Amino acid sequence: MLKKFVFLSLITLTYTASIAQNITTPTYLDETKPVEQRVQDALSRMTLEEKVAMLHAQSKFSSAGVPRLGIPEFWTTDGPHGVRAEVKWDEWDQAGWTNDSIVAFPALTALAATWNKKMSWNYGKALGEEARYRKKDILLGPGINIYRTPLNGRNFEYMGEDPYLTSKMAVPYIQGVQSNGVATSVKHFAFNNQEMFRHTSNVKVDDRAMYEIYLPAFKAAVTEGDSWTIMGAYDKYKDQYSSQNQYLLNDILKGEWNYKGVVISDWGAVNNTEQAIKNGLDLEFGSWTNGLSAGTKNAYDNYYLAQPYLNLIKSGKVGTKELDDKVSRLLNLAYKTTMNKNKPFGSIASEEHKTVAKQVGEEGIVLLKNDKNILPIDLNKVKTIAVIGENAIKMMTVGGGSSSLKAKYEILPLDGIKSRFAKEAEVKFARGYVGDPRGEYNGVKSGQDLKDDRPADVLLNEAVDLAKKSDFVIFVGGLNKSDHQDAEGADRKSYGLPYNQDNLIAALTKANKNFAVVLVSGNAVAMPWVKDVPAIVQAWYLGSEAGHSLASVLSGDTNPSGKLPFTFPVKLEDNAAHRLGEYPGNKEELAAGKGKNQENPINISYNEGIFVGYRWHDTQKIKPQFSFGHGLSYTTFAFGKAKSDKTTMTQDDKITFTFTVKNTGRKAGAEVAQLYIADLKSSVPRPSKELKGFEKVFLNPGEEKEVSITIDKTALSFFDADKHSWVAEPGDFEALIGNASDNIQTKVKFTLQ
Ligand code: BGC
Repeated sequence: MLKKFVFLSLITLTYTASIAQNITTPTYLDETKPVEQRVQDALSRMTLEEKVAMLHAQSKFSSAGVPRLGIPEFWTTDGPHGVRAEVKWDEWDQAGWTNDSIVAFPALTALAATWNKKMSWNYGKALGEEARYRKKDILLGPGINIYRTPLNGRNFEYMGEDPYLTSKMAVPYIQGVQSNGVATSVKHFAFNNQEMFRHTSNVKVDDRAMYEIYLPAFKAAVTEGDSWTIMGAYDKYKDQYSSQNQYLLNDILKGEWNYKGVVISDWGAVNNTEQAIKNGLDLEFGSWTNGLSAGTKNAYDNYYLAQPYLNLIKSGKVGTKELDDKVSRLLNLAYKTTMNKNKPFGSIASEEHKTVAKQVGEEGIVLLKNDKNILPIDLNKVKTIAVIGENAIKMMTVGGGSSSLKAKYEILPLDGIKSRFAKEAEVKFARGYVGDPRGEYNGVKSGQDLKDDRPADVLLNEAVDLAKKSDFVIFVGGLNKSDHQDAEGADRKSYGLPYNQDNLIAALTKANKNFAVVLVSGNAVAMPWVKDVPAIVQAWYLGSEAGHSLASVLSGDTNPSGKLPFTFPVKLEDNAAHRLGEYPGNKEELAAGKGKNQENPINISYNEGIFVGYRWHDTQKIKPQFSFGHGLSYTTFAFGKAKSDKTTMTQDDKITFTFTVKNTGRKAGAEVAQLYIADLKSSVPRPSKELKGFEKVFLNPGEEKEVSITIDKTALSFFDADKHSWVAEPGDFEALIGNASDNIQTKVKFTLQ
């Protein structure tokens, strides 16, 4: 009996022990262990094939995990201003899901125009929540390429021409998104400043312009924002494709900036296995494949970082050092995203998200001109409103390329205006012109049919008649998301408004003096009618809440406070890239047919160097149509005289400038105090001034607030290419403070020792 008992107990004990052993959490899954140990443990358990499988796509937007070990796959999604609809596994076509509609947030030009860092965090947080709810791990945005030419079809996805503003607005967006356990992928590193020849060009930019203008936002995104991933670009730099580029990825990003995150290729930007292995790429997406016709069982096996990589390793031609580094980075990313048990669940199309979209729109809209304060619309006098123009009725969340969205709803400008004004005034619409009536872009259907076959003169006359009969006229035009406008893959063909809108606007100026032009665009446009139009509103692409945000500003419910994140030149030749630089590429090479394919790339020289945007206009004294930082309000503000806490600073000091901003009008509103630095004497050419600080200040009528902005020598430095370092030259500087780059209100001189 006793024997039997001992025997049974022994069996039970052994059994329990073996269960205990089995359920001991392996280190790579053990959250109590340091991440580095977990990564090493996971690596040690993986086969060569499993490692390589992690480095490339397995579908249009996903990449493999390690199924055997329970390490999940990564799901990426576009894009900068909303979570893209699901597409088919191997194709770009929409998958036809019915649960993937989202809130479309305003495009990034609009976000940048708020000059409100808090707003950017709110935006990132809300967008990240939508991405998380849709089970995405990597959000392909924000886009932070610098605005070099108004012809770039993709400017609407970026944050303007200034590296400082872009940096300050990108960082909170990144932090907001990533607070959801969803990674951002800042893009496109680094010179995708035009769409034309994006696959077939080699950008030539000097080191100074690169470090002062094109790289700071990327540096801020990874060092301050800690963006967990970054996306390479399509074009070449130093004759190497950016997504497999020794200089950009290894020397600068992973070297100088010590980046520990994951480098993702742009979709189809990889062209060579050995460069992809050695030059810092970690994850390959979108390489040629139509799914299955490559002749092997799975076309993804043919990716540069797939079977070809495995073959090189197996044949002993390359080692596994790079492989383990890439996989470690991906595992690290997994612990922050897919395997992060503490991440929130996210939410979609919530009231909070709609509010964020609406507020960003309201704060981003820029009042460019407002003669005789004809805006806001005075409903004591205005009883009939004419809304004219295709963009009042055209959906703008669909189209434009990879950032195209399937919004749950989109309030069109006409609907927004009607719902705000219709109780007190009669609102009537006339189309005025037909631009692009299509309701489908790249297989994405807007569901709209804007077909109108009436001849141009009939449409114009109808609009003019309506304008004559109305108390107030709102023209809603601009660009749209069709090819050669604000859209990926091609640039605009000219600076002017398309579809003969100038003609219509000119006719409307004669028909009615109470006239506002609302421009829906992500780019500056020529305004030959600017003097004759009393009010001009830059309304960007505002997403789901577009119509509400716009009506709120037109009615005065919201006092506009947006400021331009880029210069509006009078004409294209006033822009530096068009005056000095090469656009769309080297002229002789262009004539010789270069740039048509990847075998014959075209060079694009950024001869204008650091003189981009207002840096160029200021220095050359070329008056723009509307300056960087410009934007009016329905109230007035006064800046008090600025003081500094010292007159002389050392290289290790900080200096603080203090001034007051007062609302001197009768309406609550917000002003953006902008601080620019001028180097009064320098051994190298420098811009007349450069933005180095800003603060958005909300003020009730009569209220005054003190604003302090502190800088250190980084705000005074230029990049010395010979020394390959930043230099702050001793001497005199001036802090220029105002509410636009061309409206400086108060100045303070100081000296750097
Ligand atoms: C674009 C990227 C985008 C990717 C995936 C590329 O063509 O350049 O910005 O994220 O496609 O859609």
